[in-house]
Amino acid sequence: MPSLLEVNGLHAGYGLFSVLHGLAFDVKEREIVALVGSNGAGKTTTMRAISGLIQSTGGSIHFNGEETTNLTPSQMVARGLVCVPEGRQLFPEMTVRDTLLVGVSTPRARDRRDQSLKTVYKLFPKLNERSGQLCGTLSGGEQQMVAIGRGLMSAPQLLLLDEPSLGLAPTIVKQLFQAITDIRDQGVTVLIVEQNVRSVLSFVDRAYVIENGSVELSGSAEELINNPDVVNAYFGIGSKESVS
Ligand SMILES: Nc1ncnc2c1ncn2[C@@H]1O[C@H](COP(=O)(O)OP(=O)(O)OP(=O)(O)O)[C@@H](O)[C@H]1O
Ligand SMILES: [Mg+2]
Repeated sequence: MPSLLEVNGLHAGYGLFSVLHGLAFDVKEREIVALVGSNGAGKTTTMRAISGLIQSTGGSIHFNGEETTNLTPSQMVARGLVCVPEGRQLFPEMTVRDTLLVGVSTPRARDRRDQSLKTVYKLFPKLNERSGQLCGTLSGGEQQMVAIGRGLMSAPQLLLLDEPSLGLAPTIVKQLFQAITDIRDQGVTVLIVEQNVRSVLSFVDRAYVIENGSVELSGSAEELINNPDVVNAYFGIGSKESVS
């Protein structure tokens, strides 16, 4: 199957500070793929480079067969690649409904506006109940639903999620991961960054372990769960997960 997203030999960073050193991975249509790795490994930088928020200095990015290296964020959104950033980035004084509608920024999304709103409310019934409530008064889990909902309103083909579970209670994380599976089942491909390695490997198809700006390990979720290096680094006593 051809890749929906293909990243090859990617180099990117901030000014003279280089973060990604020849990163390579791909995401196929209708997959859920995770990027995991320790703090500062370059996961968010990868998401920013793919969505056009920072320029890459080497390598290439292809989306849907087209080279998209260094296109702008709005050009990427217009092509169907939408990023839900780390930290949600909602306006506290805006209502849930108005925030969702901010996601409707392209002709493609405008055509599908009513259908997308129905889909989001079906996926997250709480947002329907609270459509008039100000985002600043929502719980952390509800805010994350709004952030994902706003991304879905852009009618993405590929949805990038950067640490959606951050700061949420385990039961809410479970519901969130179920919602992400439902999103995929509706035909949206998902690339997710997670620190919560054990939980994320329980529902994704494949994952890449990123360390120091390049891929250290990759495989199916099942392969990685059973890989002794992953177990030692992320699940064992004194592992990155247990000390985080
Ligand atoms: N805006 C920035 N300016 C300068 N350096 C940055 C900037 N953002 C990130 N960095 C640096 O780039 C490196 C990679 O950061 P990045 O945010 O990609 O890591 P991450 O894998 O997402 O980590 P975390 O799990 O903590 O979110 C870090 O050393 C970080 O300090
Ligand atoms: Mg990050």
